[in-house]
Amino acid sequence: MARKIALLNYKGGVGKTSLIVNLAACLARLGLRVLLFDFDTQSNASIWLLRLERWNKINNTGVGAIFSIFYPGTATLRDLLVRDVVEGKTGDKLLPGLDLVPTTFNLVDLESEYEGDPRKPPYLLFNEQLRELEGEYDFILFDCPPNILRASQCGIFSANEVYVPANPDALSLIGFTLLVEKLHKFHQLSASFRVAEMGPPAAVEGIIFNSIKAGVDIEVPRMRMQLRMNQYKAQRRVASTARLFETQVRDATIVRRAVALGLPVVLVGQETEEKDNVLNDYRRLAQEILKHGELL
Ligand SMILES: Nc1ncnc2c1ncn2[C@@H]1O[C@H](COP(=O)(O)OP(=O)(O)OP(=O)(O)O)[C@@H](O)[C@H]1O
Ligand SMILES: [Mg+2]
Repeated sequence: MARKIALLNYKGGVGKTSLIVNLAACLARLGLRVLLFDFDTQSNASIWLLRLERWNKINNTGVGAIFSIFYPGTATLRDLLVRDVVEGKTGDKLLPGLDLVPTTFNLVDLESEYEGDPRKPPYLLFNEQLRELEGEYDFILFDCPPNILRASQCGIFSANEVYVPANPDALSLIGFTLLVEKLHKFHQLSASFRVAEMGPPAAVEGIIFNSIKAGVDIEVPRMRMQLRMNQYKAQRRVASTARLFETQVRDATIVRRAVALGLPVVLVGQETEEKDNVLNDYRRLAQEILKHGELL
């Protein structure tokens, strides 16, 4: 069965999208079959991987966007798969094994205008369709906005593992605290819809520090995060296997450049020491996630 993972923090801008896109790319490079869902109406992951021209077509027509599955009869998840999403300028497939289900700006309407059957919330509808695809993947990843509203609920309800990207600052710690609270509430709310084959409800399995500047000592923020994690473990509010990841992803301008180029860092052509270094961080992260899976 695919491992289903959401990256989430109630603090925005901590690196959820950058981490998930580069993690997905590193896993695909290892020969694993990876499906990435973009549940953030900002569409950052979708624009990044499709590049603007392909994404604009979907945004202008609505055809191919995740939003359409919430209008039964319009499309199914399978119709929305963009297989081997990363393409070169001539349409050549650059990263076989990485598929995307993209989003567009209209996903925001799910929060205010959705009038579906109240006995079937969007996350249940999504999960039913996801179960038909699961067997085809090793990893299913959900990029979420910094909240647990309707769109993120789809990812969280279906995921079994949550990893929390964090910057070494107080706001990331507050974001983690809020996340654990809201996650708990959502699981209570959605418990009656869970079935055994979905596996356990998504629990925090790890904290990943991101955008660490050279020469900056982050021992104190790590220690504060560790203390909070220990408290939550004692209260069984995070997984018993949860921990601060050893891998820290450094701050590197090539990460922002990769977004502009529409490529994950692994495919950015220019070889530089900076690229090698941050790419090694992403590769280590992929290995640590794989290894963590042995504990679950
Ligand atoms: N390791 C890094 N080095 C340098 N810049 C980074 C790194 N990781 C992320 N960034 C930059 O930080 C900004 C925020 O990152 P990102 O969009 O991944 O965060 P996010 O948590 O997904 O944000 P949001 O909450 O808006 O979805 C972006 O401009 C991104 O390019
Ligand atoms: Mg994001």
